[in-house]
Order: sequence, then C-alpha cells, then structure tokens
Amino acid sequence: MSKNISNLSGRIGLKKNLFEKISKRSLNSKDSSGIKEIANEYNMGVSTIHGAESFYEFLRPAHREKKAFVCNGSACMCAGTQEPLKKKLQEKLGDNKVGEMFCLGHCYENHAFHYEGENYAGKDINKIDKIIAGESIKQDKFFSKSFASTSFLMDDKFSNLEQFKELLKKFINTDKKEIITSLLDSNLTGRGGAGFPTGMKWDFCRKAESEKKYVICNADEGDSGAFSDRYLLEDQPLKVLFGMIICGYVIGGDEGVLYIRGEYPKSIEAINGSINSLKESGLLGKDILGTKFSFDLNICIGQGAYICGEETALIASIEGRRAEVDVRPPFPVTEGLYKKPTVVNNVESLAAATGILINGADKFSAIGNKKSAGTKLVCLDSFFNNPGVYEVEMGTPMKKVLNEIGGGFKEPVKALQVGGPLGGVIPIEEVEKLNLDFQEFTAAGFMLGHASIVSIPKDFPMVEYIHHLFEFSAEESCGKCFPGRLGSYRGKEMFDQVKNKTAKIPLKLLNELLVTMQKGCLCALCGAIPTPIINILKYFGDEMKNDMVKDN
Ligand SMILES: Cc1cc2nc3c(=O)[nH]c(=O)nc-3n(C[C@H](O)[C@H](O)[C@H](O)COP(=O)(O)O)c2cc1C
Ligand code: SF4
Repeated sequence: MSKNISNLSGRIGLKKNLFEKISKRSLNSKDSSGIKEIANEYNMGVSTIHGAESFYEFLRPAHREKKAFVCNGSACMCAGTQEPLKKKLQEKLGDNKVGEMFCLGHCYENHAFHYEGENYAGKDINKIDKIIAGESIKQDKFFSKSFASTSFLMDDKFSNLEQFKELLKKFINTDKKEIITSLLDSNLTGRGGAGFPTGMKWDFCRKAESEKKYVICNADEGDSGAFSDRYLLEDQPLKVLFGMIICGYVIGGDEGVLYIRGEYPKSIEAINGSINSLKESGLLGKDILGTKFSFDLNICIGQGAYICGEETALIASIEGRRAEVDVRPPFPVTEGLYKKPTVVNNVESLAAATGILINGADKFSAIGNKKSAGTKLVCLDSFFNNPGVYEVEMGTPMKKVLNEIGGGFKEPVKALQVGGPLGGVIPIEEVEKLNLDFQEFTAAGFMLGHASIVSIPKDFPMVEYIHHLFEFSAEESCGKCFPGRLGSYRGKEMFDQVKNKTAKIPLKLLNELLVTMQKGCLCALCGAIPTPIINILKYFGDEMKNDMVKDN
C-alpha cells in the first residue's frame, strides 16, 4: 500500500510535491475543501490525503487557532523561562491563543517564542507591542567561533559565488571515484546520529542501478539544545548546497531536496535565497558550467513532527504519506525517495564533505581517530558563560569544552543532557572524564549524537526531567510500533502521577517498561528515550529515593 503511494506521488515528483500541496491546502483552509481535488490529481483516495494531513501538529485545527507558540524544549524548560513568557503572551493575545512548539533552536538565550511565522527569543519579549504591530525588531544572533587548527565548517572560503563557481568547476570535472576516495580517506562519519561513513553511503548509491536518484539534506534538526544545523543553514548555506550538488554529481542524480523544519523560518529564507542566486548564476540547472551534469534543488518545509528527522519517516513525509518509520532494509541508498536510490545526509555531514574537498582529506583524518575524525560543531546553552556554537576538534577533552570554550557555568549545574532528548544525562563529574568522541560517549553509557548540550541546574527536580522525556516521546512518537506508542504513554502516565504526588515511582514496573522499549521499539525515538532515564535513575536515584517504591 505505502509502496503504491510512493510510486503515485513519485509520478508527479518534487516539483509539484504532494506534501507541500497537502500542507498549503490545510494551512489555507478551515474545512476539507480541496482534499478531493488533490486526491484526484495524484490518483489516491481522500483518506490517504486526510491521513497524511492529520499526522502533523502545525496542520491541526487546534494548533492553527493559536497565534503564538512558546518553546517547550528542554533548554527553555531548565532555564525556567517558559511560564513567565507564556503569561506575558497570554496577557497580550488571550489565554487560548498561546500554544507550544518543540525547540526553536534558541537554547543559548531562551525565552523563545514563535509569532506569525517568525522566531523571537532573549529580550525580544520586551518589544512585544512592536512585534504585534508588525514592526521588525533588531535581534541578537548566536555567537560562533572555530577552535580547530583547520576550520572545515566555519571558515569563509565560501562567502561568495565566484569562489563557489571555481570550486564547482573543479569538482564536477574530477573523477567521481577520486571524490569518494577523498571522503573515505577523511574518515568522515554522518553527523546526524547514526554515524555511518559518508563516503561509503555515496559509493553505495553511486553503484545502485537506476535512471533516477536523489540527494536529501536532512535539515529537521529537532533536538533540544542543538542549533548547529541552523547555524550552517543560515551562515554557511553555500557549504551545505555545494555538498548536495557534489553528492548529486557523484551518485549520478539530478535532483535534491532540503527538508527544513518549519520551526526555522530564517533557515528556510537563507537557503531559498542561496538557491535562487545559484540558479541565476547558472550554477544550478541544466548542463552546469558547460558540462553534461544537470542538478536542481527543492525545499520541503516540515510541519512540526520530530520523527521526520528519522530518514525513513522523512522520506514518507516528502512523498505525502503519514510520516511513520519504515523497516530497513531496504536502505534509502537502494530504495529511498519515490523508491529510487537516495542519499540522505545531515546538514553538517554535507558541509563537512565540502570542507574536506576544499582543505584535503588528510587534514580532516589527522584530527581525532578513525571512528571519530575531524571537527564537530558543539552547541552550548545559556547556562554557560560563553553560550554559542563552536567548531571543536574531535578528541578534545570535555573539560576544555565546558570550562575553556564554554567559560564554565553561570550558576551551579548538576548534569548535562548531551545529544538531544534521546542522549544521555551525565553528571558533571562524569562528563569531565570524557573526550569529544562518539565511541567514548557510547562506551560510558551515553551518546554524543549531534553534540548539543542542555544544562540541568542543581535545583531542577529529576522527577520532572523524566516526566519531560516521557511526555516528549509520547507527543512525538509516530505510533507505528506497539512498544513505542504505548510505552511512551504508560511512562508519561506513571510520571504524571509522581509529579503531582498522587503515586510513587513503581521502580520494578518502570525498569520493565524501559527494557521493553529498548528491546522492542522499531526506531531510536522511543527506543532510546530509556537511555537518559536509566542514567538519571543510576546517578540521581538518591535525589528521588523518597519518590520510589522498590517492589512493584
Ligand atoms: C528519532 C530520530 C530523529 C532523527 N533526527 C535527525 C535529525 O534531526 N537530523 C539528522 O540529520 N538526522 C536525524 N536522524 C538520523 C537520520 O535517520 C539519518 O541517520 C541521518 O539523517 C543520516 O545522515 P548522516 O549519515 O549524514 O548522519 C534521526 C534519527 C532518529 C531515529
Ligand atoms: S519507536 Fe516510536 S517513533 Fe519509532 S517507530 Fe516506534 S512508535 Fe514510531
């Protein structure tokens, strides 16, 4: 069934993308008018279109009735800015006009909210009257700096189209296998979480037989604490787009798509602007720079579903299906978008591929080790004296990242959640023993993931943090698998009661639930949410001992 929908959607393709059609219809209409027309155009049933539309938070009537949305990500929660912000917005807009959005990527300043298609944060709320009046206000930007001996991600080698053109001319006239060899030699592994070698992924896709292939840039960065993909999309868009074009050239594809989350309006604007400039300069389109290579880029805007960061759900979303996770294999490199071979790469992986081609694979592989090579963007939240996004060499001691680069903390912090809501919760003393290294983090029972850091202050109750994690997975689970769908809800219900003091934590039952989710879930959303919870029970059990019952 889902294969049929992929194929039907693929017949029309990216230029008149089904997901975009569904989103536009839903956002511009208060009833079901137009659904039948879309279904007819794509040769599908009305229920298929309605099923897809009803999956997304932003397309639901209850969401569309709201005017402003307070960020309910982990960093704003720990900073305690959500409630006062909500109150101020409700005073201006009405009690039932303020909703929530999961992580707007302003973790370095908090107080984040979304209003009429724009994000605001930090001190912006003080200018709420101007914002409501439609005046544009001056906003603070994140601080960014490279601490690497060679910068692969933050340098300014791609600040204009002339540089872009020169390098594009060079690489689309280079042997494809040579480019793959460079990526393999660099030891670049995917920065989106799974850590698969990027060169190997491109090579698998290159070898797949098909008249049509796609490149997808996964710009659905939903992890709380992470704003590094946002930095690259807004400040280094040409690096990301160059990585996509060269990937297209290497695999033999002629079309790419960036799936950018709707919570990042400035990123969408920046990428759109860069794509238009490249088209105007003849650096995208047919027979680029007099060669036989043609490539075009499209943008797909997410509609508020964290699971769309998972690659199979992302593909389902673009195709206009419900964004549920698919079983792998087949992997996207052999059967991806519209069932055609597809490379799905994270924003940072694509920008790093560009950096490697410019600076040389040997310089990248010389940093860190074979499995954790090169440089990585690290995001530090507002609890640090120097919040911002930094390019750091793999293998750098975390002590240095926290205390020298981050400048230490503004107030006492007891733990860090590293790598988003599915990453480990690590006591400060334990983080300081580690280096910035994917394998070291995993071996210690944590996860480096996208290297975002959320600080948990000393007085923040861990019971509330566990509640937040279960609430997140209950809200965001795609519902495809039974342990994930039900397990997340049972966990949330358990901690609803603990939080409002109507019950204690049934430790035995909780442990059984966590093991079931770890072993039985189809993907890492509900399957990895037990990791931070198990960390908290291990390291902060003492703090919660009065909330626990051991034998049920
Ligand atoms: C629940 C879940 C959420 C994910 N979110 C993202 C994301 O926001 N961005 C991303 O690049 N990868 C995300 N991934 C990983 C992707 O599935 C995929 O591995 C990645 O995009 C591949 O790119 P890479 O090889 O360049 O890392 C997520 C995975 C899971 C299980
Ligand atoms: S683990 Fe959760 S998000 Fe993943 S497939 Fe199962 S229900 Fe969906």
